[in-house]
Amino acid sequence: MFHHAAGGYALQGTLCGSIGACGAIINLAAMDKENSHTKILTDLISWYSQCSFPTQRFDAIATYKNQVQKVAVSPLCHTSVSGWMVAANSSYHAKERKDRCAKVAAETVYQTMVMLNAYAEGKYKPLAAKLSPETESCLSCHGPKAADNAKGQMDCLSCHDDHTK
Ligand code: HEC
Ligand code: HEC
Repeated sequence: MFHHAAGGYALQGTLCGSIGACGAIINLAAMDKENSHTKILTDLISWYSQCSFPTQRFDAIATYKNQVQKVAVSPLCHTSVSGWMVAANSSYHAKERKDRCAKVAAETVYQTMVMLNAYAEGKYKPLAAKLSPETESCLSCHGPKAADNAKGQMDCLSCHDDHTK
């Protein structure tokens, strides 16, 4: 079902496919009247953006161990993997890049299971840190409580300059 999600969906570098696939599982397992599935997925996406990938959790079964780590910055495959490739002096078709993305997928599944297990026990609490003060500031004018003309919760300054400065 999710083979097409590789490379940020059909190699377009959009949403990291591991988030898309885990999102489907979260929807299956945690959809309720409180919109828990959406809250958990929001949290997973923010956690992903803040995570320094790849973690070392899977090194025992990985070909490449102790790989260079780089914060994903956004849930976009493009940002996550390009930032890592430049930091690690690697390239998309390199085997170590495949190892890195396999670990990203495994870590995203792991955190999804942590979240869903907590949800099943009625103990779920958000994992990710809050939005940065900069993004909060952008959303105070562009977000749903104001002009409501910019969709999203990604780190605005990763793509835009701050025109208020
Ligand atoms: C004090 C309110 C305020 C804050 C804070 C603010 N904006 Fe804006 N922004 C505006 C207004 C007003 C416009 C003009 C909108 C229009 O043209 O209708 C604008 C325009 C823009 C535009 C389109 C025009 C351009 O200048 O390119 C972008 C992109 C944008 N803002 C991004 C951001 C980002 C990113 C942040 C946070 C770093 C931010 N804004 C913070 C009020 C704000
Ligand atoms: C991954 C990159 C990226 C991120 C992150 C991002 N934006 Fe954008 N944003 C864009 C691009 C690209 C456009 C389209 C610009 C264009 O049409 O010239 C855009 C358009 C906009 C516009 C309309 C500007 C116009 O002139 O039409 C606003 C307002 C805006 N973004 C605000 C935000 C805010 C606020 C955030 C953070 C919550 C944010 N953006 C996060 C890339 C991004």
